[in-house]
Amino acid sequence: MAEKIIIDTDPGQDDALAILLALASPEIEIVGITAAAGNVPLTLTEKNIRKICELAGRSDIRVYAGCDRPMEGALVTAEYVHGWTGIDGATLPDPTMPLQDRHAVDFIIETLMREPEGTITLCTLGPLTNLATALTRAPEIAGRIRRIVSMGGGLFEGGNITPAAEFNIYVDPKAAAIVFGCGAPIVIIPLDVTHKVLTTRSRVAAFRDFGTAVGEAVAGWLEYFERFDVAKYGSEGGPLHDPNVIAYLLKPELYVGRQCNVEVETVSELTRGMTVADWWGVTDRRKNALFMGQVDADGFFALLTERLSRLR
Ligand code: RIB
Ligand code: CA
Repeated sequence: MAEKIIIDTDPGQDDALAILLALASPEIEIVGITAAAGNVPLTLTEKNIRKICELAGRSDIRVYAGCDRPMEGALVTAEYVHGWTGIDGATLPDPTMPLQDRHAVDFIIETLMREPEGTITLCTLGPLTNLATALTRAPEIAGRIRRIVSMGGGLFEGGNITPAAEFNIYVDPKAAAIVFGCGAPIVIIPLDVTHKVLTTRSRVAAFRDFGTAVGEAVAGWLEYFERFDVAKYGSEGGPLHDPNVIAYLLKPELYVGRQCNVEVETVSELTRGMTVADWWGVTDRRKNALFMGQVDADGFFALLTERLSRLR
């Protein structure tokens, strides 16, 4: 029985690979993809999702636009990493598949209320505004969610947009606090994992060696996307964040983590968006999340490469 998922995403080259991995995997049924504002504004992320789906030949996927700004404050974007389109590095035609009329928040609520309890997984790859808004408007959906698997946060790795905060959490810390506190089972894939998954030359070449439109696009995206982090960290390649969320669904044995309490700083300007994970159990706060710390990077890339090679 395929796992039914909603992907909430702000493409983003790494989001694109996560979407393609899900589309290439028969273990997963994508009920819908909801666009978040994050790496680039919503008007671009919703279009990027449709471009990515059509690259994979999946114009049947239902795509919904969500909130265009965080629950509080102004939107922070990351064109300096992803380029002005959000998916610079490959040139894809404008989408012809439709954007659904329903708002993403309504779609999330309606799907969770319609589908049997415990059958829908939320995979979040961007700021958590859409899911947090749905939880605020309809708190009863929390008990109906099978699990939330979320790329975001950091502990021993620190932050990537400030010394303390990872981008997805930083953009909407209030939303992250709502989601982390909602009571649904949560798996967090933080920078502590994604910074161990680097796009080396040979790994990028393996995609281009497909000789397919997907392989060419993926290689171009990674070569563009990694340049910022290579310059910043002085590493051979850049960390590949979002596909780890889907890889966890497919092969959870690639990851090692710890059930612990994870809270979000929402008040301090200095540490806004910091994920405070009680890794050593020094508090009696509820252990609300499975916080990942280790990954089999070679195993991850073997899975990602094999699956994406199936897309023509
Ligand atoms: O910090 C990395 C995360 O922020 C990734 O999801 C990337 O796509 C951006 O959204
Ligand atoms: Ca993302």
